[in-house]
Amino acid sequence: GSDSRSELVVLAILCFTLCKCDLSGLWRNELGSLMEINKVNDAGEFSGKYLTAVTATSNCIHSSPLKGAQHDRTQRSQPTFGFTVNWEKFSNSTTVFVGQCFVGDKGKETLKTMWLLREEVGSPGDGWRATRWVTGHRLARRLCVILG
Ligand SMILES: *[C@@H]1O[C@H](CO)[C@@H](O)[C@H](O)[C@H]1NC(C)=O
Repeated sequence: GSDSRSELVVLAILCFTLCKCDLSGLWRNELGSLMEINKVNDAGEFSGKYLTAVTATSNCIHSSPLKGAQHDRTQRSQPTFGFTVNWEKFSNSTTVFVGQCFVGDKGKETLKTMWLLREEVGSPGDGWRATRWVTGHRLARRLCVILG
């Protein structure tokens, strides 16, 4: 009847909002690094910060700003995205991430990404040692906030 039809409509609307993978929030990778992404705007642009637990130079935790873009914010439920991390003071290098946001069982969200890092070297001839990358990088959603 029309009741079950309207239930379906309500479910469809709920799923349209809830079953979409949302990049904003807090994420953690398998090595304990955290990433916080602020609200994605209507153009798909976002900013945030990456708190890395592992660096080539030290074991301290560093917070670095990131900026990126998500593909087609309104239409895709499992969108692709990319962002750049600016390591600022503690490393003369730049990292870019590219990935996709997936919604798994029970709405569990995961980011499947890969990253590529370019380190500053003195001359083009040193380029052979200037890049590092990881292709199978994964981040899972954390349900808490970073204070401060
Ligand atoms: C970055 O490069 C500058 C020189 O241009 C150097 O003084 C500084 O120590 C470097 N930073 C790091 C973290 O290596």
